[in-house]
This record gives sequence, structure tokens and C-alpha cells, in this order.
Amino acid sequence: MRRVRVNVSEGENLLETLRTAGYGIVSMCGGRGLCGKCRVIVRSGMSSLTAPSEAENASLTEEELNSGYRLACQARSIKPSTLEVDIPPESLEVKMKLLASGLTPTLSLKPTVRKIFVEVKPPTIRDVESDLRRLERALESKRFRRLRIGYETLKALPEVLRGGGWRVTVSIFKGREIVGVEAGDRTGECYGFAVDIGTTKIAGYLVDLVRGEVAESV
Ligand code: FES
Repeated sequence: MRRVRVNVSEGENLLETLRTAGYGIVSMCGGRGLCGKCRVIVRSGMSSLTAPSEAENASLTEEELNSGYRLACQARSIKPSTLEVDIPPESLEVKMKLLASGLTPTLSLKPTVRKIFVEVKPPTIRDVESDLRRLERALESKRFRRLRIGYETLKALPEVLRGGGWRVTVSIFKGREIVGVEAGDRTGECYGFAVDIGTTKIAGYLVDLVRGEVAESV
């Protein structure tokens, strides 16, 4: 239990007063009198505060009210005064710590998306196959066969092939589907994003799928 002395101005509630004085009070409901988490015990100066509100009567027992318990967000000062208040440990905010580092075991890299660089044979007057078939042939030489390709990727293919001088990087998902084609050799840049959803925090990791390292985290 932490005992503090604070000066309150008229019209201010105890939650604001304590926060201004540097005491972080838990307020899950944002000070609307719903969560009952901002309990404090007023040891002196109770006569300077408003009478218990409906929310306080609903949240606190008669015994607690008689012992000086108040909801800090509801107890408002009716005149400037100095109060002595006990803050129970459960009403004090605890600074959350995000675990941002840890032991990284050595793992073999098996990303679901791989980038493969290929040189595609350009068409000639005697070789008039489609762009897709040309790309498939180049990939077959790297042991990738019967790959699916999405409409958007297929639509972009002619421009990328010509823009890259028929040297392109193909992103392949699970060895089964072409999910992207880029001009030139882009095999050194392949990233994935992992999201860790916890009970109180969400962490995101940008993972370099070529080097097997976390490039950035938020
Ligand atoms: S902050 Fe929720 S009841 Fe006071």
C-alpha cells in the first residue's frame, strides 16, 4: 500500500490528481466508473470530495465505503484541499515489458517463398511460344515444374520480362505457385512478416528469408 499526499483543485477528480502527481492508476474503462479498478482509500480530506457516485455504490461495499474506499475516477473535489490517500498495489499501473530479445537457436532455412533467378530465352521469328511457356522452360531447367500462376502475375509477366532484358527473378510459394516476377536478379531480397499476438501486446518481425535474420521488429 502506498500512502501519498496530494493537492486537489476544485472540480478535479482523484484519478487526474494522482496522475498529475506521477502515480499511474489503473483505469481499464477510461474513467467511466465501470471497471472498478481505480480503487483508492482516502485517509484524510474526505469532506473535500463529492459523495460516492452511483457507480461507486455499485462497485464498492458499504464496509469499503465506510473505510474510505473510493473510485478515483468518480471522487471529485468540491474545494481546493490537501488529501492523504492510500493506493493499493493492484490499483497502481505496472509498466509492461515487451520481450524483444531471446535465444535464437540455429535452424535450417526453409522459407515458404523462395526467389529463383532465371534467364529466359527471348522469342525469335522461329520460336514464337508464349511468354509463360518461356518462363516455364527456364524454371524447368531449375527443377520447378507444373507451377500455377495467378492472373495478376501473369498479366505483369510480358512487361517484366522485357523490362528485365529476359533476366527475371521468380517468387515461388511452397514450390507450387508463382506469386511474383521481378526484373533482374532480386534473389538477395526476400522478406517475410511474422506477427506475435499476445494478450496485451502485438509484436511484428520483418524477417530476412535469405539470411534467416530478423531485420526489424516493432
Ligand atoms: S477507471 Fe474504471 S472505474 Fe475508475
